[in-house]
Amino acid sequence: MKLPDSEKNRLKQKYGQWAIVTGASSGIGLELATQLAGAGFNLIVVARHLEKLQAVEHELTSKFKIEIKVVDADVSQSGGCDKIIQAALGLNVGLLVVSAGYGTSGVFIETSLDAETNMLKVNCEALLALSHYYSRQFVRQKRGGIILMSSLVAFQGVPYSANYAATKAYVQTLAEALAIELQPHGVDVLAAAPGPIESGFGERANMKMAMSLKPSQVGVPILKALGRRTTVLPGLLTKILVYSLRTVPRWAKVRIMEKIMGGMTQHQRK
Ligand SMILES: NC(=O)c1ccc[n+]([C@@H]2O[C@H](COP(=O)([O-])OP(=O)(O)OC[C@H]3O[C@@H](n4cnc5c(N)ncnc54)[C@H](OP(=O)(O)O)[C@@H]3O)[C@@H](O)[C@H]2O)c1
Repeated sequence: MKLPDSEKNRLKQKYGQWAIVTGASSGIGLELATQLAGAGFNLIVVARHLEKLQAVEHELTSKFKIEIKVVDADVSQSGGCDKIIQAALGLNVGLLVVSAGYGTSGVFIETSLDAETNMLKVNCEALLALSHYYSRQFVRQKRGGIILMSSLVAFQGVPYSANYAATKAYVQTLAEALAIELQPHGVDVLAAAPGPIESGFGERANMKMAMSLKPSQVGVPILKALGRRTTVLPGLLTKILVYSLRTVPRWAKVRIMEKIMGGMTQHQRK
């Protein structure tokens, strides 16, 4: 999927010149970084592994006339977010995309508390720190955009991925509220809530992904929704999954999720 020129111009005018994309070395973050590069944004790309980021830098600067700053930072560690902020000082940043994140799965009492806490730091604490810093900066600038990666699992409890779903409920709730608070200041906030996507996510979360979309099917709908909506369910499959459950009471959704996630993590219990 490609962004139409009219969308590229709209995004660049509203949110240029520089965009920060965390999690830009893989999956959804990489797709969003690629689309933004195609729209003419200079990029600050963030992830833990330097060599993967350098490969992204090489590919995007050879295709597009843009500048890229590479920031290898582990946002779960103290100083991780500061490293990003320092790298971006003095640049005209108008867009923040927080896509660094991961999931865990399995029977809750069998999970490691350290692993669950680390995920909380990446998915919530770092996302909060970056959103807080750039919300203030964007309000001062009277312009800006923030895209936060929520998920289909954000809308109800999800047995066998309980803490991951809870981190995404946090992201969804934060984004919905910030969208209202910041809108009068010219700052747009979007929660992007995809269903299963083929990326590095499934392996790290130890989930068997079913009915998944490709990152290339969700990047464009996410960017098109920025400044127009508060939440986007990118991709037809994501919409079908959410809308088909719309009239189902929340307790029953949790039971349905138990079946779905139970299947996706069944291999762990054999
Ligand atoms: N895939 C799905 O099914 C799905 C569905 C809904 C929502 N989401 C959400 O979408 C976001 C992106 O997921 P994805 O599918 O694109 O996964 P992915 O392919 O695994 O990409 C994750 C990205 O985050 C970076 N990252 C991970 N931990 C990090 C850390 N501690 N510090 C800095 N960077 C870190 C990774 O690079 P390094 O490993 O080099 O750090 C990578 O660039 C996540 O928030 C995820 O929860 C995914």
